[in-house]
Amino acid sequence: MTDIQGPRIVVAMDFDNADDCFYMAKRLSPQYCRLKVGKELFTACGPRIIEQLMRLGFEVFLDLKFHDIPNTVAKAVKAAAQLGVWMVNVHASGGQRMMAAARESLEQQAIHHNGHKPLLIAVTVLTSFDSHDLQSIGVQESLEEHVLHLTKLTKDSGLDGVVCSAREANVLRANFGSDFCLVTPGIRLDSSPADDQRRTLTPHAAIAAGSSYLVIGRPITQAQDPVATCKLITQSIH
Ligand code: C5P
Repeated sequence: MTDIQGPRIVVAMDFDNADDCFYMAKRLSPQYCRLKVGKELFTACGPRIIEQLMRLGFEVFLDLKFHDIPNTVAKAVKAAAQLGVWMVNVHASGGQRMMAAARESLEQQAIHHNGHKPLLIAVTVLTSFDSHDLQSIGVQESLEEHVLHLTKLTKDSGLDGVVCSAREANVLRANFGSDFCLVTPGIRLDSSPADDQRRTLTPHAAIAAGSSYLVIGRPITQAQDPVATCKLITQSIH
């Protein structure tokens, strides 16, 4: 499944309205990037925004991090597949039954509808979490052990990959093989500010560590020339 085809850059469209989102989308090119629609934009604009971005030629990662009972998540990912998204995600902490139900739902959906099946990936431990946060919700494992634990659960559930910190990519690539998809945010160019991200890597270092797709927001959306920045990053990772 993880034959990497097409752009490896996924631009985070972190906007609260459609006008700003389209203004940015029109300054980008599907030749160099895919787009990520998260909870803010989706809640503000609804599913129409996905259809409109796809009409501009972009493939879309719907980043809603579903976490609910298996039946509800299975139906939610099916609805995402019907929108035609390229990638969709769930929380690994929803458990194996929830993840397997989501995968089966996408497989069924693909059988009945033209074979299109979005990549299904799981969030392990949010990068905003530290070991204290993990303990406070009753997890006794170390953060690294818990990431590995949830990644194994994700793979055993038949999902395509995980969202992880680029700094974890090395270990996960070594443990889960070359076929497993690693989607990494927290990417910064040498020239861009860290903003609120703490543990960043450059695009080149993230790809070298085993990352499959780079989620990049502000270094591209706040650049003077977003499409030129995408091109530059693309060249730096080849
Ligand atoms: O602007 P920036 O490059 O920091 O944006 C990163 C994007 O990746 C944001 O949409 C952020 O919510 C998302 N993300 C993250 N860390 C995670 C998961 C998602 O920064 N662990």
